[in-house]
Amino acid sequence: MDNTIKKLVVLLVPMIVDCLDNGLARTPPMGWMQWERFRCLTDCEAYPDECISDKLFRTMADYMVSDGYLEAGYEYIMIDDCWTSKERDNNGRLLPDPDRFPYGIKNLSDYIHSKGLKFGIYADYGTETCAGYPGSIDHLKTDADTFAEWEVDYLKFDGCNSDWIFIDKGYIEMGKYLNATNRPIVYSCSWPAYQEPNNMESNYSALAETCNLWRNWDDIDDSWKSVTGILDWFSGNQDRIAPFSGPGHWNDPDMLIIGNYGLSYEQSKAQMAIWCIMAAPLIMSVDLRTIEPKFKNILLNKDAIAINQDPLGIMGRLILKKDKMDIWTKPLKPKEDGRKLFAIAIMSHRVDGYPYRFNFTLGELNITDSNQFHIKNIFESTSSVIVNDKELIFTRIKPTGGALFVVTQQK
Ligand code: GLA
Repeated sequence: MDNTIKKLVVLLVPMIVDCLDNGLARTPPMGWMQWERFRCLTDCEAYPDECISDKLFRTMADYMVSDGYLEAGYEYIMIDDCWTSKERDNNGRLLPDPDRFPYGIKNLSDYIHSKGLKFGIYADYGTETCAGYPGSIDHLKTDADTFAEWEVDYLKFDGCNSDWIFIDKGYIEMGKYLNATNRPIVYSCSWPAYQEPNNMESNYSALAETCNLWRNWDDIDDSWKSVTGILDWFSGNQDRIAPFSGPGHWNDPDMLIIGNYGLSYEQSKAQMAIWCIMAAPLIMSVDLRTIEPKFKNILLNKDAIAINQDPLGIMGRLILKKDKMDIWTKPLKPKEDGRKLFAIAIMSHRVDGYPYRFNFTLGELNITDSNQFHIKNIFESTSSVIVNDKELIFTRIKPTGGALFVVTQQK
């Protein structure tokens, strides 16, 4: 080995140990998670088909495959809170609730893997989870080892019931235990979601070195108000957080609630548009047995998913507010011949009852060029247009709706 190489190796080794270098989540993770839709339903007599149980996850796994979600890229199926017994076992290990998970977690994990899916689970750094189940604080190594033994592929590690000011340390420690198992496990952190709402700016460099994704802000609920509240925070803080988005490490505005009770069809397109443009993890939380086809089609829209999964992993930003519309843009990986590619998303705050005729120019969005651009509307079958950066683009946007466009530079 010549000296320069030796020096490089010496320089690189500590980085490999210190950084999260698990090679995972090179594009935003996609999957299904129980929480927003099924919460902590543990009463299987009252809610036989919805309670947090082995049956629920097996059923959802079946639908993920049979209904095309896996093929579209949604590969993780994740248990959230409320899966354990109220006590650990005699060896201090987390124990699944025996009535609701009668075959154990490894058996469920095997089933999910047999369908070609990946398996995620939930734990909490504090003394108890947010719903009051055993926390991991004195059991970090045991829990990391247990998850690896169960062949877990994704861990959502929550932060309830802990000292949120110093919480970073605990997450970093858990990350080391996870890495030490040698099993590739996507590490989803929640520490900013405990600091930022308490007016403490989180350490995003540490997050990107420790975690594959992190919840920045409050939980999503089944309403448009919740979606817009989350987006107010993300756009208000975009200059601070967007630089930390990229292959292997993502800002997470929380689950997609498309197909549930709270969002209209137009609002659902808006949520998908903005989550895709933000390079947000696409984690559905919906009953896949009963979702209406029009909502399912939004979740499975290939062009939208391609924008979200763009290999550059740039988090798009809110660039313009005009006529009560928010316009976001995201640079995408250029075409092989070098032509530039962008995505544009529009979200309307208008409540007047007709589809508003909105116009904008690419120049207003800081997309300037001597070439023309081809603009394709992803959710509507309106024909594409070709414009220069000064020509008005007209589009109809329905009340509290959204739109998503791919913009391709012409030769
Ligand atoms: C917190 C998290 C949610 C969910 C619940 C479970 O509130 O932010 O996403 O995991 O805990 O109790």
